[in-house]
Amino acid sequence: MEHLEGRVAVITGAASGIGLALAHRFAAEGMRLVLSDVEEPALAAAVAGLPADVEVVSMRCDVSRLEQVEALCDLAVSSFGAVHVVCNNAGVGGGGAMTELDIDDWSWILGVNLWGVINGVRTFLPVLVEQGEGHIVNTASVAGLFAAPFMGAYNVSKYGVVALSETLFNELAMAHPDVNVSVLCPSWVRTNIADSARNRPGGPPADAGATAEIIETFISRGIDPAAVADRVLDGIRDRRFYILTHEDTAAAVEARMRAILDDGTPPMLMH
Ligand SMILES: NC(=O)c1ccc[n+]([C@@H]2O[C@H](COP(=O)([O-])OP(=O)(O)OC[C@H]3O[C@@H](n4cnc5c(N)ncnc54)[C@H](O)[C@@H]3O)[C@@H](O)[C@H]2O)c1
Repeated sequence: MEHLEGRVAVITGAASGIGLALAHRFAAEGMRLVLSDVEEPALAAAVAGLPADVEVVSMRCDVSRLEQVEALCDLAVSSFGAVHVVCNNAGVGGGGAMTELDIDDWSWILGVNLWGVINGVRTFLPVLVEQGEGHIVNTASVAGLFAAPFMGAYNVSKYGVVALSETLFNELAMAHPDVNVSVLCPSWVRTNIADSARNRPGGPPADAGATAEIIETFISRGIDPAAVADRVLDGIRDRRFYILTHEDTAAAVEARMRAILDDGTPPMLMH
């Protein structure tokens, strides 16, 4: 989709980090925005922080709940009559060794990161197909391309998002070539993801564990979310499927593929 001015973009997890950067980037293109997040005060602040001339509506939406994603779609269509870009971006991080990872954390992380994308695709895809145009951007991660230790639930959720997106790409190419999909696979980005437990049902765990501290250190050295938003915009314009953001991703992906083809063992790859 080359001409974005006046088009309608829906963003989940828009109150912080990559989602917020996407909102600002799309606003600069003159797009109309439908912003959502599970955190209401942060969402209100995000809307208030946009330039005054941006056409925007917003609502609280927990992406792990299908009925809330459907309500978000209804808001977009009733407000603007169309949906052109859908960023299934909301996500949470959480670490821990397999021996320790709580079953509630598995449910929470898969619920937001994987079911959130499933709910988004299931809900918005029929609208885009009916329109005969549109672009879905699913946020995965490099954790969807290779699996670093101590991030089991996160890795599983992001591999799922990559698999879902690859499947959708080929189905659309066969049946609805005017509807596109991309999968965004960043490495570390300077956002609030290390503090994801702020949205964990039941509140943050008593002890966030050593992994949380390590993640925080890597995040603080990450790239600016605005740079990711630039890549996404280019990806939509160029109809690029895999949107990568870090130069060292290629070597890690090559190492994983080489290990598979050589019948080796999974290499120890870190983000
Ligand atoms: N920051 C990184 O290094 C990095 C790297 C790769 C991929 N990602 C992915 O980018 C996406 C955005 O994360 P971020 O880094 O900007 O983190 P962030 O915490 O800054 O933003 C995530 C947003 O999602 C919202 N959210 C959390 N649970 C939700 C739910 N159930 N429903 C709706 N919204 C919810 C949060 O309130 C927050 O506003 C995620 O999918 C994440 O996995 C991040």
